[in-house]
Amino acid sequence: MSILSWLTAKYYDKIMQDAETKGLKEWRTQLLRHATGTVLEIGAGTGSNLECYPQTIKKLVLLEPSPHMRQQLTLKLSANNAYPIELLDGKAESIPFPDATFDAIVCTLVLCSVKNMGKALSELHRVLAPEGKLIFIEHVAAAKHTTRFKWQKMVEPVWKRMASGCHVTRQTEAALVQAGFMIEDIARQSMRGVPSLVRPTIRGIAIKC
Ligand SMILES: C[S@@+](CC[C@H](N)C(=O)[O-])C[C@H]1O[C@@H](n2cnc3c(N)ncnc32)[C@H](O)[C@@H]1O
Repeated sequence: MSILSWLTAKYYDKIMQDAETKGLKEWRTQLLRHATGTVLEIGAGTGSNLECYPQTIKKLVLLEPSPHMRQQLTLKLSANNAYPIELLDGKAESIPFPDATFDAIVCTLVLCSVKNMGKALSELHRVLAPEGKLIFIEHVAAAKHTTRFKWQKMVEPVWKRMASGCHVTRQTEAALVQAGFMIEDIARQSMRGVPSLVRPTIRGIAIKC
């Protein structure tokens, strides 16, 4: 693991602080209210979503491939939760659970970083129960033919190296539909408190159909 990955994990919460206070935390809280039953969160990072889960969920499984992120997340785990929490090393492209295990999956600011988005989405679809919810917040490509999109395409190769494999031109909404999800609710909005390249976002709920 590189020093960059260690630094990213150590300072992730600080880096995101401005975005969280300018609206991201509110987005997390509003969306995670819809999590029910047995829940999987992929790319859980430092655990920014932990405080947003309703106490009524049955179980929470957190999947996170970076040991540095897992280390930061562990510091936030409390023994006093109303539901059990399991933290596992793993990637979205290969989820170590049988088909239809989860009632809901949470995925926030992760699909930009997975190596193979098609494979990751097909795994999310596989482990979700029929009509289960995929709750997402993702930064995405700007509208085609805009200056921002041209910049995103130009800067992406360098950005990916600096930001742990993060892509800025992903067409995530189309990929969700292609993977067999029905978009039940979606908001397209600019995320405040982050560089211009990663401001365009989508957030909402997609249903396994
Ligand atoms: C930008 S952080 C987002 C963390 C957290 N989800 C949040 O909302 O703040 C991206 C996270 O995705 C994780 N990640 C990268 N590739 C992944 C993959 N293939 N499967 C699952 N998680 C991955 C990274 O280790 C990192 O913790």
